[in-house]
Amino acid sequence: MIELLKDASNFVYHFLESFGYKHPLHPVLVHLPIGMNLGALLLCLAAIIFRKPELKRSAYHALVLAGLFSLVALTMGLLDWQHYFNGSLLKPIKFKLLIAFPYTLLMWTGIFIGFRVGPEAKALLPIYFIGVICVLSLGFFGGELTFTGRTPSAANPRDEGQSLFEANCSSCHPSGGNRIVPDKPIRSSRQLASLATFTQHVRNPASTVDGQSIMPAFTTDTISDDEMAKLYDYIQHYLSLDCVKTNNDE
Ligand code: HEC
Repeated sequence: MIELLKDASNFVYHFLESFGYKHPLHPVLVHLPIGMNLGALLLCLAAIIFRKPELKRSAYHALVLAGLFSLVALTMGLLDWQHYFNGSLLKPIKFKLLIAFPYTLLMWTGIFIGFRVGPEAKALLPIYFIGVICVLSLGFFGGELTFTGRTPSAANPRDEGQSLFEANCSSCHPSGGNRIVPDKPIRSSRQLASLATFTQHVRNPASTVDGQSIMPAFTTDTISDDEMAKLYDYIQHYLSLDCVKTNNDE
């Protein structure tokens, strides 16, 4: 199943890359079910408040679209997860998976109820409402995944190093470890030998890991040379504090 997902993801992203498209798809498409779901809730509330029952039909139609788009967003989320996070179960991803499947099921249960009972069905309002809570939570964890620590850096260079680490590295390297390839943590890595070695690795991980690397390359657009020095300094200091336990010192 996971293998199939990986193949599908490679196929889709290679195809898109041939057109020069190099971005994740889920963040682009996810707004469709969110908007439709929120629209359904607002239309249903308007139907009740202004006593315009025909708006319940509009709300139901928005739900049908939310249901269809949620399938698209879910599929793209799974593909992005394979492509950009190599299928690793980071905490926000776990929460997202735990919410996304029941959410999609909820949308389709609503579609089914509306189809059988009609758009006036009493069960639909709570479904619109719970749906909105779900999409907001999904959005929250999506933000956790992409924006953690990406707040403007403080004046202290060490804080800046920490912000850089949290923004770019900690999702895969929490506490200097490695969630994806556990036996290749940052701590105790030979790539920390000097700033130059470190920079070369981070700028082009493939060059130091037998040509193929899961770790993304960080160009000067993402981390400038100046920031790289602060990041290196932070990692060095962080490790020398011994606040993390080395688990592969042989
Ligand atoms: C998407 C996950 C991911 C992100 C983000 C990431 N890395 Fe990595 N990193 C890896 C993986 C996986 C490896 C193991 C080698 C490989 O497959 O590339 C690795 C290896 C390393 C190593 C070498 C470890 C060894 O084998 O000696 C260092 C050093 C390192 N990363 C530093 C960083 C720094 C610094 C950042 C942030 C600027 C960062 N990584 C961001 C996934 C990531």
